[in-house]
Amino acid sequence: MGLNTQQKNIAVFASGNGSNFEAIAGACERGELAARVALMVCDHPDAYVVQRAAHHGVQTFAFDPKNYNTKADYEAQILQLLDAQNIDLVCLAGYMRLISKVLLDQYEGRIINIHPSLLPAFKGAHAIEQAVDYGVKVFGVTVHFIDSTMDGGRIIAQRAFAYEGSDASEVERRIHEIEHKLYIDVIQQIITQK
Ligand code: GAR
Repeated sequence: MGLNTQQKNIAVFASGNGSNFEAIAGACERGELAARVALMVCDHPDAYVVQRAAHHGVQTFAFDPKNYNTKADYEAQILQLLDAQNIDLVCLAGYMRLISKVLLDQYEGRIINIHPSLLPAFKGAHAIEQAVDYGVKVFGVTVHFIDSTMDGGRIIAQRAFAYEGSDASEVERRIHEIEHKLYIDVIQQIITQK
């Protein structure tokens, strides 16, 4: 069997820096993932992840939600692009928006998210700061299938680590280190099952 017949098409959705996008794109290029990043979707045209995608030669759809009347309108456009690229798996990687029925209905069980906490604790955009403020002693990362709620859906994998300090940037550094490995492992597990 040739490599191309096994290769899956991944879409990555991101809103900001894109270090997880970078990890996924790099793993594909090095052949560590039996996949290619066929599309990057970003809701902030100025985000650094857009430059990262250009550097990797990944087709990008960068849009400003303000230019659309409704979420359904821009998700319909995203749906067309996903279908056109035969996307097998959508990986949310710091995409700070809820996904609505338009995408969920068509890609049910094929959209996953990574989150910097041990879900269901500390959902939302400020999980690390909230966990540090709360005095948490065991931090972690979760990868899960998504539902229509914020950081909700069935958990696929979690990694935890103990840390007794209060330095949020140190926690963030350790979380990113874990994320960049865990997301690749989970993606590989999913695409080789299908
Ligand atoms: C990651 O830590 C990811 O877990 C988090 O955003 C960061 C994006 O970093 N996602 C959430 O908080 C989702 N609620 P990156 O842009 O460097 O990949």
